[in-house]
Amino acid sequence: MKVLVIGKGGREHALVWKLAQSPRVERVFCAPGNPGTGMDGTNVPIEIHEFEKLIRFAKGEKIGLTVVGPEEPLVNGIVDAFQKEGLRVFGPRQSAARIEGSKVFCKQLMRHADVPTAEFKIFDHSEPAKYWVETREYPVVVKADGLAAGKGVIVCNTSEDAKKAIDRVMVQEEFGRQAGRQAVIEKRLEGEELSVLALVGGRSIFPLPPTQDHKSLNDGDQGPNTGGMGAYCPAPKGTPELMAKIESEVFVPIVHAMKRARYPFNGLLYGGIMLTNQGPKVLEFNARFGDPETQPLLMRLKSDLLDLLEAAVDETLAEMDESKVVWDERPAVCVVMASGGYPGKFENGKPIAGLDEVSRMADVKVFHAATKVDGNRIVTDGGRVLGVTALGDTLAAAKERAYEAVRKISFKGAHYRTDIADKALRQV
Ligand code: AMP
Ligand code: GLY
Repeated sequence: MKVLVIGKGGREHALVWKLAQSPRVERVFCAPGNPGTGMDGTNVPIEIHEFEKLIRFAKGEKIGLTVVGPEEPLVNGIVDAFQKEGLRVFGPRQSAARIEGSKVFCKQLMRHADVPTAEFKIFDHSEPAKYWVETREYPVVVKADGLAAGKGVIVCNTSEDAKKAIDRVMVQEEFGRQAGRQAVIEKRLEGEELSVLALVGGRSIFPLPPTQDHKSLNDGDQGPNTGGMGAYCPAPKGTPELMAKIESEVFVPIVHAMKRARYPFNGLLYGGIMLTNQGPKVLEFNARFGDPETQPLLMRLKSDLLDLLEAAVDETLAEMDESKVVWDERPAVCVVMASGGYPGKFENGKPIAGLDEVSRMADVKVFHAATKVDGNRIVTDGGRVLGVTALGDTLAAAKERAYEAVRKISFKGAHYRTDIADKALRQV
């Protein structure tokens, strides 16, 4: 079978790399891809929003399965467009992708399905929102309704802060017009965050091993929020008991509610879960694989990823033989190397050294996230540049191996955290 992956980040590189290992996959294409996906598969110069061109390509190449990486095309209805043309595609339809695309929709759905989440209120206008925040306990979180590429979530410690945040979201429309039409204001939750990714098809849910992401830019969870500076899998916090609780209290009610409401979720449902001292509570849902969580997760998958994705698409997850889904016993750690200045301003085009040497290291894989070919060199081309991922006999060994590789790679201004997985190491 020929497979097409849509996207160009580290997550898509991991998907392409893993799908290319499937004995049933003849060829993997990636649109538009990056130099990493070009090495493990074949890049196609079509952008993620060019639905018609993507459909034409999928038909022309007789693609057996298209896998959509990022949220934007999902929220814009790429799955509906492919299905209308009779093409097989992994991902939720537009109506279900709203779980990520609209925070208002997501919170209302959680309330309806009785899924534990932070207490909240929804506002259509800034004035009543400003009035309401005067009487709150702090901190609160102000959120713009729509997709805001990981931004649009503002933690506020005083009512003055909250009013400024409301202005930014709803008056200045800093996160876009659509996203500023409504705002969610909720209590800030405290605890550690766990990423729980599950394949979903119809009523069936197949949870994948728990992972943890590191959202802050700097060591010790300091500095601004980013798209994710590193991740590890499995996260020891996600004990079998806790995972069972999250499945029954979060995934089952939400998936069933979506099915009943006739916008069934199909694809990968990602729950961002805060482990509070009152139990797990949902911070957000994403309608796609996490980035960088997917990198260490797929590094550990020994069996065929295509089987899993197809079972979700065909709604046969419930019949799947679980013993055929094999995970490496060893933990995996992914360290993101970012451009200096990210998530603020940074320069592109810095030549990257050391990739060849690291490609010969056993149990290490460098996933490209924002790189570009420039002549005969690979250069930086975005904020999060590489996801250096390694397996080890223990979590400590995986971390050590990942950093051994990181130290061999260099580009001007490179920034990375040095404490990925330490949170878990302190627990074991
Ligand atoms: P969201 O855009 O809703 O997915 O939130 C993005 C990130 O902001 C989450 O992964 C958390 O790190 C943080 N966050 C969102 N809501 C809250 C909350 N109520 N309390 C604490 N942190 C939050
Ligand atoms: N790592 C966070 C996300 O994928 O949204």
